Amino acid sequence: MAFCTGSRPAVNSYGVWFAPGRGNLMGEHTDYNEGLVLPFALAQGVTASVSLRDDGLLVMRSKQMPDDIVSVPVDALSSASVRGWAAYPAGVAWALRSEGVAVPGASIEIDSDLPVGAGVSSSAALECAVALGLSSLAGLSVTRRALAAIARQAENEFVGAPTGIIDQHASLLCEAGHAMLLDCATRSITQVPFDPAAAGVVALLIDTRVTHALVSGAYARRRAECEEAARQLGVPFLGQVTSLAQVDELADPVLRRRARHVVSDSARARAIATALTSGPPAVVASSEIYGYIGKLLTEAHLSLRNDFEVSWPEADVAVETVLASGAYGARMIGGGFGGSVLALVPAECATVVRTDISRVFAARGWAPPEFLDAVPSAAARQIA
Ligand code: GLA
Repeated sequence: MAFCTGSRPAVNSYGVWFAPGRGNLMGEHTDYNEGLVLPFALAQGVTASVSLRDDGLLVMRSKQMPDDIVSVPVDALSSASVRGWAAYPAGVAWALRSEGVAVPGASIEIDSDLPVGAGVSSSAALECAVALGLSSLAGLSVTRRALAAIARQAENEFVGAPTGIIDQHASLLCEAGHAMLLDCATRSITQVPFDPAAAGVVALLIDTRVTHALVSGAYARRRAECEEAARQLGVPFLGQVTSLAQVDELADPVLRRRARHVVSDSARARAIATALTSGPPAVVASSEIYGYIGKLLTEAHLSLRNDFEVSWPEADVAVETVLASGAYGARMIGGGFGGSVLALVPAECATVVRTDISRVFAARGWAPPEFLDAVPSAAARQIA
């Protein structure tokens, strides 16, 4: 793969790079089906301080895992030769090498203010911060799209998580004050204005404290079911199906439900992007735009719960609770089976919403949820 757009001599031996986690307004499990996604970058993310070494070693430390320092010769990296958190940065070095880049030895110090396993792409943020750092110190001039492909290759082939393209693209290509409509088939990107605070709305991320792991089998099973549904419908990917009537041709009820989710979530992503760009449909007053978007979020949650079957009890209860407390709408985000719920909440209800969820979780004996105001923020960048 020719991903380099040029090269320049390495001028620095040290730098600090930040890559954000992501929220996602709409489009879940649509990326690997070549449908639409509408993510936005968070203000929170991963910082990688990278300095060159002359002994050919990759030495990886994380403030969050101080006892787990991993050191490996860059030359000896092979698929899955490193396990645990360090597999993500090591995988990026491996993926760059597999593209012919002479990756230098480096010390990589990681710090993060993203919760892990909370469905906000801490792993992609880690990959992207390291990909920017290593490529920059190696003197490469690489497009962000190419770096996203490298980071995804690290996750798919080195770590072994069969994820799609949304997370790395969001971390590297989103813009502040925008969500990013990404057509995963054509890779075309449209930045869509998304500034909830300006409309008196809080985009509240509720970490349900149930962690998920994408290397586990359920995510891969969903992928396989979608591939089978596409095969039976005679298309390469479900993203090419635009009519629910076509989905109804599937005889198998499970495959029908999976396909219905994918097709309807892509349609919802397009509907939200259109509403944010040109206003909601004529029947909806423009002042009601967040009510309109919120309904689509809740519809998507039901689709993820009933058709795609990737929700979990804490997410379902969080969605029900925030709706009863005044949210415009809410849904689980990410791969599912754990992680976070995104709720759009009128600012004046935000405190009540938080209090109500905390109370309901406590009454069930669940771990206290954690909250994060999701502010659509800038993509990955060098910060020192
Ligand atoms: C995870 C994966 C993504 C995407 C989502 C579900 O976050 O990393 O590629 O498939 O799940 O939308």
